[in-house]
Amino acid sequence: MSKNDLLSLLEKDHKDAKALLQEIIANCEQQKKVIAAKVIKLKDALTLHTKIEETYLYPQAEQERETSRLVEDAYREHNEMKDLLKKLKEDGEPDEVAKYSKELLICVEHHVKEEEQEMFPILRKLWDQETLLELGDKMLEMKDRELAGR
Ligand SMILES: [Fe+2]
Ligand SMILES: [Fe+2]
Repeated sequence: MSKNDLLSLLEKDHKDAKALLQEIIANCEQQKKVIAAKVIKLKDALTLHTKIEETYLYPQAEQERETSRLVEDAYREHNEMKDLLKKLKEDGEPDEVAKYSKELLICVEHHVKEEEQEMFPILRKLWDQETLLELGDKMLEMKDRELAGR
């Protein structure tokens, strides 16, 4: 397993997103400007992460009999996350930021668990390393493109 295969890169994203959410929750009484920057960073990261999965992972995994049901659930959970991301406003009051960040963390933790413990292990058996590395390259390219466009 290489650290640059698609699934390993996505797992790294999961870890970073959870850490950032925990940081926001623990510090939402901090200076508004500081928290706003963190919320913006989180929203950008999660938006890009779901876009990458919906481009390079889910359509392909949907074709596999063993993962098609899991992908259905995953799309639904992405939609829940997107709704919560809209409610989480970077200029929101601290108690609102805390409320939606906590809801988002529960949602993200559940979703990540399903991906990492159910979907990804099946895909690691079905897809060869070369395919996963190629998809990993595409993911990194998309990240570069999106970051350059900002
Ligand atoms: Fe996902
Ligand atoms: Fe994910």
